[in-house]
Amino acid sequence: MHQPRERCKMIILLWAIIWVFLLMGEGANSDPQLNLLNSVCSQYNVTNVQDFHTNLNATFLKLREELVGGNNFATADEAPGSSPTYAMVQCRNYLSPSDCVACFDAASTNSRNCSAANGARVIYDGCFLRYESNNFYDQSTDEGHSMICGNETALEPTAFNAAVGGLLNGLRVATPRSNGYYVASKKEVISGNITVYGVAQCIETIGKGSCRDCMAVVYRDLQRCPPMTHGRAMDAGCFLRYSESPFFADNQTTSSFLFLKNESSSKKHALIGGLFGGIGFLLLVLAVCIWFRSSRRKKMAPRGDIIEATELQGPANYSYRDLNSATHNFSLENKLGEGGFGDVYKGVLKNGNEVAVKKLAFVQSLRAKADFESEVRIISNVQHRNLLRLLGCCSKGAELLLVYEFMPNSSLDKFLFGEKKGSLNWKQRFDIILGTARGLAYLHEEFHLRIIHRDIKPSNILLDHDFQPKIADFGLARLFPQDRTHLSTRFAGTPYGVVVLEIISGRRSSETKPDSDHEYLLKQAWGLYENNRHEELVDETLDRTEYETEDVRKFIEIALMCIQASAASRPTMSEVVLLMRSKGPLDRRPSSKPIFVELDNSTSIFTDSASNATASISRLSGR
Ligand SMILES: *[C@@H]1O[C@H](CO)[C@@H](O)[C@H](O)[C@H]1NC(C)=O
Ligand SMILES: *[C@@H]1O[C@H](CO)[C@@H](O)[C@H](O)[C@H]1NC(C)=O
Ligand SMILES: *[C@@H]1O[C@H](CO)[C@@H](O)[C@H](O)[C@H]1NC(C)=O
Ligand SMILES: *[C@@H]1O[C@H](CO)[C@@H](O)[C@H](O)[C@H]1NC(C)=O
Ligand SMILES: *[C@@H]1O[C@H](CO)[C@@H](O)[C@H](O)[C@H]1NC(C)=O
Ligand SMILES: *[C@@H]1O[C@H](CO)[C@@H](O)[C@H](O)[C@H]1NC(C)=O
Repeated sequence: MHQPRERCKMIILLWAIIWVFLLMGEGANSDPQLNLLNSVCSQYNVTNVQDFHTNLNATFLKLREELVGGNNFATADEAPGSSPTYAMVQCRNYLSPSDCVACFDAASTNSRNCSAANGARVIYDGCFLRYESNNFYDQSTDEGHSMICGNETALEPTAFNAAVGGLLNGLRVATPRSNGYYVASKKEVISGNITVYGVAQCIETIGKGSCRDCMAVVYRDLQRCPPMTHGRAMDAGCFLRYSESPFFADNQTTSSFLFLKNESSSKKHALIGGLFGGIGFLLLVLAVCIWFRSSRRKKMAPRGDIIEATELQGPANYSYRDLNSATHNFSLENKLGEGGFGDVYKGVLKNGNEVAVKKLAFVQSLRAKADFESEVRIISNVQHRNLLRLLGCCSKGAELLLVYEFMPNSSLDKFLFGEKKGSLNWKQRFDIILGTARGLAYLHEEFHLRIIHRDIKPSNILLDHDFQPKIADFGLARLFPQDRTHLSTRFAGTPYGVVVLEIISGRRSSETKPDSDHEYLLKQAWGLYENNRHEELVDETLDRTEYETEDVRKFIEIALMCIQASAASRPTMSEVVLLMRSKGPLDRRPSSKPIFVELDNSTSIFTDSASNATASISRLSGR
């Protein structure tokens, strides 16, 4: 009986020693992270300033005591007199207790200049302090949410965006489920030696559901920051931050796989852990499914508030009146273009958000409205960095309108063939080709319904402020019942190879050039490839020093592979993405002529929309 007890004491002693060392270690490189993110005083004054300040001082004392005692979150309230005070402080969990106290001290000093105001909020990188004359402990979101993006772009935006996207999404999902609503995590940027660090935190007095709601807001806000190297977003109940530079020690990361603890040493533990982990994982999947279904059911109810609805990621029902006034009665000045499915107008909603409104042109041929709405719901659930987001719809009488996010740099065709011809450098073209491939791979292989674009062309590839591509008009073919007959998956991706060649050459596939023997782009590309002179296809406005010949050759070969006659020899879109990102030369090459090159009268195929091309191909393949 004695021995185990002795051992126990030894272990406790050892623990104590380790703790002392840890605390000393942390003290050595202290940093309370006093970068000020936000500080505001409320605009109302208390009725009795003296009372309020007495109460405020008392709550601050209590808060400080809690922090000195090792907590990183505390609330305190005082209610004597006519002016009660409620106060709250929260430190990021990675701060040491002493840094946490230092951060609080700075925040409380900063809040002193709010003088008679009945509330204040001060947010630093390291901590958050708030007080009010009313109880706000369960408040998770309010209109004061904000974000701050860094001012430097990451070296490899595409890979960086992907890593940040994955990291933030993980934090968003894991935080409401984690202990103390806090997760610190990191993710490596593929193709670079860069790591992104991220932290998410909700205040402990809001429930899990409120934490989730709050994370949805800051997540959405923060998504506007990449490819900037860092960003922070905050709301009343939570905080989300990412950065390319480590802002917490490596050993401070929390595991986001909450059910899996794989650090057990013995095999038996590992086995049990694995078993429970497996069961936990199954339960988790089940829980997510149930949550998804129930939250979806809730979201289906039409909502009046547009902002709310878009936050909840369902399609919003916009009122015709709002859209009409947002686009100045669909005026010519607001017209952005004419797409295959209808005209597109720029609109500015009452809340100042810019949107693109598409007036669908196929009123006659449309099936029942219910069908339209269910299709819109499907399309609005397709969310990917490289796919234009459908925000919602509107129907009035026979008119059907779709509302999309607005893209400031309009479409790729303007930059390839239009007024801005020659202004895209190689890096931008590279990102556009890769991003478009990623968007298509998602549509073909990752979304739960396989969606074939069938109209991929430069005018359907929109560019955001950073020239990252977003594919437009996907899924709309689903709205045309009569077109379903030749919805051929066999030729999925065929036109994509053509678009790649157009981007590299800066030429329309439907036009010939005198210096290319009046050959169409595809025929010329194949001829040059066969003679091992592919690089001659490259747009001469491109700076030779900007690109590696090897890269250009590789992209041309991948493009040609996508247009090969036999479906079996064409890579899938996810293979295309992998091939494009691989280093060095390809391990396979296009071996057979693209189908178009064999057709003498192939010109009509590319003069109009690619859906005609699909139709032509379908006829051919019927032979
Ligand atoms: C974490 O790493 C830092 C150095 O980066 C070190 O000072 C500290 O002792 C480590 N803490 C733990 C818990 O391992
Ligand atoms: C208090 O004043 C300082 C210095 O002018 C300022 O930086 C800070 O933002 C102010 N605090 C609040 C809560 O307004
Ligand atoms: C509250 O504390 C501040 C700073 O310590 C001090 O200046 C002020 O006089 C105090 N107010 C009251 C009412 O005790
Ligand atoms: C609140 O009090 C401050 C200082 O006492 C004063 O400058 C300010 O005008 C007051 N604001 C309002 C809205 O009464
Ligand atoms: C970014 O902002 C910092 C400080 O605000 C400034 O010193 C730096 O020059 C800026 N960098 C760029 C690339 O604008
Ligand atoms: C990591 O990337 C930086 C900047 O791109 C570079 O200077 C450094 O040599 C790289 N380090 C390794 C180990 O690849």
